[in-house]
Amino acid sequence: MRAIMKGMSLFFIVLILMLPGCQAKLEGGTAVSTPPTAEESTITYEELVVGYSQIGAESEWRTGNTASIKEAAESLGVELIFSDGQQKQENQIKAIRTFIAQQVDLIGVSPVVETGWDSVFQEAKEAGIPIILVDRRAAVDENLYTSYLGSDFTEEGRNAARVMVDLLDGEGKIVELVGTVGSAPAIDRYAGFREVIKEYPDLEIIASESGDFTRAKGEEVMGDFLQLYGDKIDAVYAHNDDMAIGAIKAIEAYGLKPGEDIKIVSIDAIRDAFQAMIDGKLNATIECNPLLGPQFFDLALKVANGESVPKWIPSEEKIYFPDDAAEVLPSRKY
Ligand code: AHR
Repeated sequence: MRAIMKGMSLFFIVLILMLPGCQAKLEGGTAVSTPPTAEESTITYEELVVGYSQIGAESEWRTGNTASIKEAAESLGVELIFSDGQQKQENQIKAIRTFIAQQVDLIGVSPVVETGWDSVFQEAKEAGIPIILVDRRAAVDENLYTSYLGSDFTEEGRNAARVMVDLLDGEGKIVELVGTVGSAPAIDRYAGFREVIKEYPDLEIIASESGDFTRAKGEEVMGDFLQLYGDKIDAVYAHNDDMAIGAIKAIEAYGLKPGEDIKIVSIDAIRDAFQAMIDGKLNATIECNPLLGPQFFDLALKVANGESVPKWIPSEEKIYFPDDAAEVLPSRKY
């Protein structure tokens, strides 16, 4: 919308300054300019106005994700209106309503939790503003968003479980640090992990609690698990690296060796996770890619220009182990 307006005003300036450059045809000896319709003109990055509703700054992953979005907007010349929801859905909904009032061309949103988006997405749809889900899905009807760009969180959970099975040789007691309650990655990583673990009767998940994707909460919850179960715990499955790093501190404070006495597998592959693997305190990290900025704006431009795009663009992700950590760390961007 704003891009069309920007484009149209640019068109009229060009029309006045460079009339011969316009498409002209002779009618009864008079040159008549036929301006392209809004539908016919192609929107460029410089004309694109995007509203982006981010979750907050709960983890290193999120910091890397925000930087990627902002850097890509700047380098492409996109006008980005960025809003930090500070972990609250109500803030994100308010931001989306503001973007609608501002008539942005497109809205990117990373929903903090899965449910509760139907009304505001419907409002965007009625205003003719497409929504792209970035990083996290929302549990809404498919016609309320244009595309989802992000990871397969269920597969990440399955991969974490496969690694755990190997580390424990199919036998042992696991505690789980869950992500933000009600968020897509917490729901899917929980389910994917269990899909695999249930095939191993000697593997038991003895405790599972939310650490809200933060280091501080990961440390606190792991401290509670240790008070309850002590050295009966064989392994920790953390839904992100930040909580695993919190857990490492709690295990050390308890007097055990993380990575040895208690095995740890987590998700994200942030730089600090590579350092923890180099230090022998983390046994594996499953990659979740936050560097979505360039792909997001590429997608946004296509959508703004009416091109059809896939409903889901999955990220390609790897699994990293301590053996490769020292070699890989210098090239990690987040
Ligand atoms: O949605 C992606 C998850 O959100 C990351 O795994 C976690 O670190 C972040 O906060």
